[in-house]
Amino acid sequence: MGGVMPRLHVNVDHVATVRQARGGAEPDPVTAAALCELAGAQGITVHLREDRRHIQDRDLRLLRQTVKTLLNLEMALTEEMVGIALEVVPEEVCLVPEKRQELTTEGGLDVASLEEALQREIPRLRKAGIRVSLFVDPWPEPLEAAARCGADFVELHTGRYANAPEEAERTEELQRLETAARYAHELGLRVNAGHGLDYDNVLPVAQLPFVEALNIGHAIVARAVLVGLDQAVREMQDRILAAAPPEARP
Ligand code: PXP
Repeated sequence: MGGVMPRLHVNVDHVATVRQARGGAEPDPVTAAALCELAGAQGITVHLREDRRHIQDRDLRLLRQTVKTLLNLEMALTEEMVGIALEVVPEEVCLVPEKRQELTTEGGLDVASLEEALQREIPRLRKAGIRVSLFVDPWPEPLEAAARCGADFVELHTGRYANAPEEAERTEELQRLETAARYAHELGLRVNAGHGLDYDNVLPVAQLPFVEALNIGHAIVARAVLVGLDQAVREMQDRILAAAPPEARP
């Protein structure tokens, strides 16, 4: 499976961040999502935060009606969010930890301490036809706990790899991601990856075994401000495409 190209799921949260800066209607993440799909994105990701700092309930509901590829909802494991997910029924839900003060999701879920709640809520979501992913650090314990809880996917947190200041540390983090991807697969989990990926660091992650999708937000939206969303998405697709052996390229 090492040679299969991962799908690109574009996270459009930061289109909403720009809109919320003025509290108006523009730019609309729903329009942005459609442009991402037209440019070749194979999924759209949004994080409906409890504080609604970027994506709003209205966005999620409209995206459910308009997204043609796949809608992935990132959310905290709360009663409110599970209720919304069960109403909206995205194809996938990715459970993430959430702290009000953080700039972005900082670490993976503490799966072991949430195990009881996960054992209860994952079957509810799956019964509604939603695939459930857990955003985890690339270590054995959360992977084992994710498997015990019946998650479909884990999304491996690539933030430490992306933020590593030096090459040696970056290589070590990449190795950790590879080991985790293999172990997750052995445990029967499907694997996604994301956080902090950009045009320069995405290639080695796209080459990891068993990774089915990459969730990328900030780098694409930031570049879109300068070159346009269509080009920004296509350039990222090209970087991911470079990870595939020639016979696997479309
Ligand atoms: N995956 C998860 C679980 C996230 O929380 C985020 C940030 O919202 C991302 C991927 C995307 O991260 P980035 O914006 O750094 O590409």
